[in-house]
Amino acid sequence: MNKTMKCIVKTNAGPGNLEMWEKPVPVPGPGEVLIKVHLAAICGTDIHIKDWEEFAANRIIPPIIIGHEFCGEIVAVGHGVSEERVGQLVSAESHIACHRCSLCLDGKENLCLNTKAIGVHIDGCFAEYIKIPSENAYVCNPAISEEINAILEPLGVAVHAATKVSIGGKIIAVTGCGPIGLMATMVAKRLGASKVICVEPNSYRAAVAYKMGADVVLNPKECNIVDEMRYECEGIGPDVVLEFSGNIEGIQAATKYIRAGGEIVVGGLPNHEVPINFTETFYRGVNLYGLSGREMYHTWKVMNGLLNSGMDVSDCVSHILPMEEYNKAFELLESGQALKILLRP
Ligand SMILES: NC(=O)c1ccc[n+]([C@@H]2O[C@H](COP(=O)([O-])OP(=O)(O)OC[C@H]3O[C@@H](n4cnc5c(N)ncnc54)[C@H](O)[C@@H]3O)[C@@H](O)[C@H]2O)c1
Ligand SMILES: [Zn+2]
Ligand SMILES: [Zn+2]
Repeated sequence: MNKTMKCIVKTNAGPGNLEMWEKPVPVPGPGEVLIKVHLAAICGTDIHIKDWEEFAANRIIPPIIIGHEFCGEIVAVGHGVSEERVGQLVSAESHIACHRCSLCLDGKENLCLNTKAIGVHIDGCFAEYIKIPSENAYVCNPAISEEINAILEPLGVAVHAATKVSIGGKIIAVTGCGPIGLMATMVAKRLGASKVICVEPNSYRAAVAYKMGADVVLNPKECNIVDEMRYECEGIGPDVVLEFSGNIEGIQAATKYIRAGGEIVVGGLPNHEVPINFTETFYRGVNLYGLSGREMYHTWKVMNGLLNSGMDVSDCVSHILPMEEYNKAFELLESGQALKILLRP
């Protein structure tokens, strides 16, 4: 094995400051595994880190290797980890839970009070190798393509949202057709939604939503979204909204068109506080749920079942580029003409 590796490092605080560095290959410590990265995916979080938005500035101490969505092969293990893990194809749960805080002890590891995130608090996967706790290295089905195995982490967010409420036989609205909303669309269909209506202003992404199983895609810039959504949903709005736009107007509209007694799973992360009319929303018996990461590891189990029964989310991968072309990848994402972009180290 090489002693050094190429990796993409956030070198300093402030916007930009991403560089390709040569660093020593990490050595797995007790309880850790070393993984040779096969494919890594760029997430919105990586863009926040590049642009040094508040979310990143509050959490990141550069220099750090970024990236947290990937698949690869275990090539070495640290003390206490079975040698049998060497050779396994794995993806990663990006949240490292402490297993000691009151929420971990209550079975809510995804809400751990001491969460450390890969590519945020510890070195990430935009690298030839990454070391992570053995527990977080989730064994992939090698029969599933590597492109899909590289995006299990964001797919898990979509699966978590769609399993937070019951979906079967219901009318579901999915707001925001970025990669996660698109995957939520397909998951909702697979879980037996009677109709899935997507909301997305970007026409390139709207077209992919149909491929992912949307029955209707509405453009909120071209219609009165509240009226149009009600019209599509028996005149009274959808049973469930899976919100993945993170857009303030998009979220506010959902609180208006959701049917009385309906449920909104808020997965998107807006940059600012979102004013909501509490009286209008909650007097109608509307339920709002927050969403953080994936349940460890129940969500992964459901996701595995969906993939093994033939669910194919590969239409939301738009590009695969060599890792050296990371600047081009970020430009493509910012152009709005891309979905998941995978980097090959
Ligand atoms: N809750 C979690 O644990 C978790 C984890 C990962 C990501 N996220 C969040 O989930 C969201 C989706 O992630 P992604 O990678 O798919 O993001 P993305 O930015 O690629 O997708 C958001 C989409 O929303 C669309 N949009 C903008 N305004 C809209 C409106 N008014 N109505 C409907 N759609 C609108 C955009 O055109 C875009 O296609 C992001 O906000 C992200 O931060 C949450
Ligand atoms: Zn991510
Ligand atoms: Zn904890």
